[in-house]
Amino acid sequence: MNVEFDKEFLWGGALSNVQAEGASLEHGKGLNVYDTLIVDKESGQKEVNSSDPASNHYYQFEEDIQLMKEMSFKAYRFSIVWSRIHPNGNEREPNQAGLDYYNKMIDLLLEAGIEPVVSLVHFDMPDYLAKKYNGFYSKEVIDFYENHVTKVVNYFKDKVTYWITYNEINTAPFGNHARLVAGAVKPENITNHEFYHQIVKNTQLAHARAVLTIRKISPTAKISGMINYGEVHPKTSKPNDVLAASIINRYHTYLAFDIMTDGEYPNYYKNFLTNRGITINFEELKDIKSASDELDFLSLSYYQTRVISSPEIEDLLKFENEVIFNSETEVSEYLLANEWGWAISPKGFRLSLETIYDRYKKPLFIVENGVGLVDEIGADGEVDDTPRINYYREHLRNMSDAIKFSGVEVIGYLAWAPIDFLSSHKEMRKRYGFVYIGESLGKTKKLLRLPKKSFYWYKSVIESNGEIINE
Ligand code: BG6
Repeated sequence: MNVEFDKEFLWGGALSNVQAEGASLEHGKGLNVYDTLIVDKESGQKEVNSSDPASNHYYQFEEDIQLMKEMSFKAYRFSIVWSRIHPNGNEREPNQAGLDYYNKMIDLLLEAGIEPVVSLVHFDMPDYLAKKYNGFYSKEVIDFYENHVTKVVNYFKDKVTYWITYNEINTAPFGNHARLVAGAVKPENITNHEFYHQIVKNTQLAHARAVLTIRKISPTAKISGMINYGEVHPKTSKPNDVLAASIINRYHTYLAFDIMTDGEYPNYYKNFLTNRGITINFEELKDIKSASDELDFLSLSYYQTRVISSPEIEDLLKFENEVIFNSETEVSEYLLANEWGWAISPKGFRLSLETIYDRYKKPLFIVENGVGLVDEIGADGEVDDTPRINYYREHLRNMSDAIKFSGVEVIGYLAWAPIDFLSSHKEMRKRYGFVYIGESLGKTKKLLRLPKKSFYWYKSVIESNGEIINE
């Protein structure tokens, strides 16, 4: 028995605009935390401090949307870059050129029959807010964010129904990621858990204020929080490995949705804080409670599963700290990985969807899933990315199994990504797109767009409403 996808199923793709647009300083845009990201030298990449030209999507978005239309996309998730609308982040009034740009994009999508799904905060906090306030480490930035959301939603309320408040909010409190995801760097004089507490609280408040703002302006909007979901499994059946896996999943993954959906801190987190001498100001959290009633669906990115082995520590508080803040997870010995060491785990996708649905009982929207590969143009002028097709086929079959065997409600699937773009580490070599982005064309600044083999395969997935994944 194969799953018949609902006729309204939202097939499509997703992109993060800071990673694709380029034009970092065009038409009033301010720099953001992605533009100024310096890629770690240890990873062997050269230092850069601009995101130009990326995929030149700022100037070639019409072509890109045309390609999405050719693939028969029903939905497309993109991000409205915060620093294109509020260049420093603290302006009351928006940059009209920024609004005009996304307005054109949205009109084109609607004309093509593609539902826009808009992400707010996707590695795009104005650099000014990151430097002056340490991003979401400070409460002031929540007010700036709320003003930004108000302006954006007011402008697009009649055209956009689907809103995602915050990309991968659960990754905000960790290591180097905090700078990109929350604009924040851990001050030297505080502990990891104090930083964690502050970032969790302020990003959840930011999410909640965004939810309440969207709902107030647009009562019929469909609103969602979003996390990166990749389960961590115990490396062996040793009880401490099992315990470590449970701890890491809670604090790296579930906590964000536990808070958003219940509107309060779960008991395990209350104890985590009190065990470390942190007092909770419940009054401060009331917007989180109100926002929890307004979520229409939950969205997630899925890339991989990992395994963990437990640290050799007796003291349970220290054990918890070590697992949450210092542990390195690995690829399971039973799985293959891509060149960047990301495990390929289609069954993990099914398990993740089942776990998340059983836990929250809300419709799920998969808004990112894909694989980074080194694609090249062959002698025949084509890009044969069969491994990507295999990746998608297996993941889609497992999504269909989660629906078929466990009744998971999935409203849509957005592949990462329609076109190549710069990875979160500013690398073009790690390609995700159905369309290859190449060198500039002749003397123009335009970059080549070349549909890969997967482009045609994914088009037929959508046009057959998922039928061909079983072939
Ligand atoms: C997600 C992000 O974490 O993973 C994307 O939302 C990112 O912006 C994607 O591009 C893949 O990660 P990477 O590091 O390969 O770009």
